[in-house]
Amino acid sequence: MDNPRMTPCLDLPIDQKLLEEVVEKAKDWALMHGACMRSKTNLNTDILQFAPFVLLPSTFPRKEFEKAVAIQPILNELMHKVAHDYDFLSSSLKSTITVDQFTKKLFEIYETVRSEGIAQPVSLGLVRSDIMLESSCIGRECASDCSTAESGPYCCWKQVEINTIASGFGWLGPASGLIHRYVLQELGRMDMIKNLPENKALQGLCGGMLEAWKIYKNNKAVIMFIVEDVTYNICDQRFHEFELRSQNPNVPVIRRNLTQLSQSAKLGSNKELIVDGLEVAVIYFRAGYEPGHYHTEKEWDARLLMERSLAIKCPSIHYHLAGTKKVQQSLARPGVLEKFLAGDKTSAVKEIFTGLYSLDKDEFGEKAIQMAIENPSHFVLKPQREGGGNNVYGENVRSAVLSMKDTEERSAWILMERILPPLQHNYMVRPGDPKNACPPISEVVGELGIFGVVIGDENIISTNKQVGHMLRTKLSTADEGGVAAGLGALDSPYLVDLSSCCE
Ligand SMILES: Nc1ncnc2c1ncn2[C@@H]1O[C@H](COP(=O)(O)OP(=O)(O)OP(=O)(O)O)[C@@H](O)[C@H]1O
Ligand SMILES: [Mg+2]
Repeated sequence: MDNPRMTPCLDLPIDQKLLEEVVEKAKDWALMHGACMRSKTNLNTDILQFAPFVLLPSTFPRKEFEKAVAIQPILNELMHKVAHDYDFLSSSLKSTITVDQFTKKLFEIYETVRSEGIAQPVSLGLVRSDIMLESSCIGRECASDCSTAESGPYCCWKQVEINTIASGFGWLGPASGLIHRYVLQELGRMDMIKNLPENKALQGLCGGMLEAWKIYKNNKAVIMFIVEDVTYNICDQRFHEFELRSQNPNVPVIRRNLTQLSQSAKLGSNKELIVDGLEVAVIYFRAGYEPGHYHTEKEWDARLLMERSLAIKCPSIHYHLAGTKKVQQSLARPGVLEKFLAGDKTSAVKEIFTGLYSLDKDEFGEKAIQMAIENPSHFVLKPQREGGGNNVYGENVRSAVLSMKDTEERSAWILMERILPPLQHNYMVRPGDPKNACPPISEVVGELGIFGVVIGDENIISTNKQVGHMLRTKLSTADEGGVAAGLGALDSPYLVDLSSCCE
């Protein structure tokens, strides 16, 4: 199937001389305002390079953007309730943890702290729901009558997943919008800036951390970021630190990796988490979501120690488990959402789910295996991992499914319908690319992330809000679009009425 297209926000191509000039300015703007990363190929922690970005904001249907923003509090509530439902988490993950060692380890920590009695009932959720426009929907409307599409009964987008751990781009998301404001201004198109939505993700996410810090009630306690051994996405993390300090200069922020913690963390007499003599009020995980972050059992011990402590975790272990792909698939089963949400809310959420299938060894799993073998390119095969680069696409879906068909390992995976987002033309600017002085027009597709903040315990949700967004864009030929992984580019939405966005 040919994906429909979205019309770029400006007529392309841009005059070459003007393009060269604006690209050079935009690169410098990004470098000088911290829209940057560290180089993966040539790491030097003293040097930053600009993060890849697309020169123009991508056209995005306004109504669909507004729907995505509006639904976020419902998704926050859903994840919060799922995270606090032991029976649901354990039945959803039962078969997976027999074969997936990483998820099993996380689940064991959950079981341990549950049996001991959870020291800190409050959780902080800083979540990001990732969505893609669905071409089949947009295409259908466009082919008939674009002008009626706005009042269409369904969303033109589907949820890719919801992240409950290390939901990054709280800074780079807003920064992308700022790059685009500057670019449009330099192109003499101030009139277009009104269509770039405000994005206060950084303030909102950091505000959530500070609210949790207040709930902890110790003015001397610190906020601790759990970080990778080497952080490439350093600006995104540091801007969170800077923002915390600017919102409340009295709250110190410390950074530790799991190995450092295994040597320096201990529990006080009331289960306070003490790290190098400092009491920790809030733990914000930007690492710990993949096996490679746990070099030995010591790092796992450190995770358990944190979970046992009085510190408010973002995420707590049950929130982490609620964000697994297997739980996402479980939620899409008939009748399940009704367990967690009121009627009108369930229909809104169902609308954004795309086909999600278990590969467990039962009749449903067999059906899913058969579908994947017959039509591999219609699906994405996903293990229980975060951070990108783990999924299987295209023809590889068939071979992967065939090779795991008769093994128990298949329960570690889920099968998801592949979303086909509409294509769009844009200029992609990458650091170190010889073509970046005058980039060619590329065909790209985007993925929008909406940030949510949710705070509460098993019984009460005290804070629940949508706080901002991020958009990342990849070449239409790429399967995945992680910017930190080097595949995607920073982008921001340019909101238009649907009737004017299809070609
Ligand atoms: N159903 C789908 N249809 C189309 N593309 C998909 C689908 N699922 C995932 N992708 C692509 O693969 C990428 C990674 O998928 P996913 O978000 O499920 O994995 P992840 O490892 O959790 O990534 P992240 O680090 O972004 O959380 C997505 O950003 C998207 O580009
Ligand atoms: Mg993820």
